[in-house]
Amino acid sequence: MFSGKAWRVERFGTPREAVRLQDMTWEEPKPGQVLIRVRTAGTGFPDLLRATGRFPLLGDPPFGLGEEATGEVVAVPPGSRFAPGDRATGITGFLEGWGGYAQSTYLREVSAVRVPSAMTDEEAGGFPIAFRTAYAGLVERAPVEPGQSLLVLGAAGNSGAAAVQLGKALGATVIAVAGGRSKTEFCARHGADHVIDHRTEDLTARVTEITGERGVDLIYDPVGGETAATTLKSIARGGRIAVIGLAAGTTVPLDSADILLRTYSAVGVLAGPDKDPDVEAAVWSRLTRLAAEQTITTPVGTMQSFIDVPDMIAGQGAPGPGKSVVRLAG
Ligand SMILES: NC(=O)c1ccc[n+]([C@@H]2O[C@H](COP(=O)([O-])OP(=O)(O)OC[C@H]3O[C@@H](n4cnc5c(N)ncnc54)[C@H](OP(=O)(O)O)[C@@H]3O)[C@@H](O)[C@H]2O)c1
Repeated sequence: MFSGKAWRVERFGTPREAVRLQDMTWEEPKPGQVLIRVRTAGTGFPDLLRATGRFPLLGDPPFGLGEEATGEVVAVPPGSRFAPGDRATGITGFLEGWGGYAQSTYLREVSAVRVPSAMTDEEAGGFPIAFRTAYAGLVERAPVEPGQSLLVLGAAGNSGAAAVQLGKALGATVIAVAGGRSKTEFCARHGADHVIDHRTEDLTARVTEITGERGVDLIYDPVGGETAATTLKSIARGGRIAVIGLAAGTTVPLDSADILLRTYSAVGVLAGPDKDPDVEAAVWSRLTRLAAEQTITTPVGTMQSFIDVPDMIAGQGAPGPGKSVVRLAG
């Protein structure tokens, strides 16, 4: 048995009210789990949804927070692919109430990998969720072809920044949409071919300037709301919008008559492991190979210490550019 501290939601509320540091114990991992001593954990907008009771896939508290973590493997069940001492990163058992903002946590073995030596702990801690989601969107659900145009909303955010990089790796021409100069500069530094500041520029006019009368082939949308609705005006005939999330508060409003008359598709994307573990292993091996050769990299933004987790979650309502990562000891 392992013991330590973990940040957990005790009751829904603002992050500073809801999230409390508790003493925890972790039993030996069961088949399908790997127990790690956490070094870093990636943060994201869903933490805020969970603390405030707006996350659709979890019931009532108490539960842990943090969808992804990196650390040293300390215990594995018989037959595991991992061994104590491995440096591993992956998706935590957050749907079962475990989380990465903890001194130890369980990774789901099917969604965990050994960390390539080229990756720092910080990069590894912020890697799994955003890139697995980008893979689900751009490879599995709405495949983007080389030479197609890909417009990414929230492109300086966690989900968006990963889609910019994976989209480039897949050969798309990437149009990054973000709000404010520091974010647009961030997108340009991380490989976007074109950058639009939705706060100061006319989104529709700029997309027409970039794509001509054709419009954009694929929209990757973790933001939703009015910004996403505006980009739909610029979608190509036969184009697609990948519906990823609702950082703006609501998903993109869709009008089936408009979908019919202008002939485009909306594709829902909820990233999750393939039911065939070998297929899932191949996904992670492709992603880690791209990371090992540094074709894709976690764009680490802010580093936070373990004690600051509630403030860090509160900050997800107005995130800066790049991925926030929590560092524990080690
Ligand atoms: N489908 C899936 O499997 C999956 C996986 C992971 C996350 N998600 C979802 O994707 C969404 C984004 O998550 P994320 O971690 O990428 O978020 P994030 O890093 O916070 O990025 C979201 C971006 O949305 C924009 N935004 C617009 N209005 C906002 C508002 N009111 N509050 C905060 N941001 C706002 C911001 O960009 P600008 O300032 O540049 O406008 C921000 O950078 C969430 O709804 C999350 O649940 C879905």
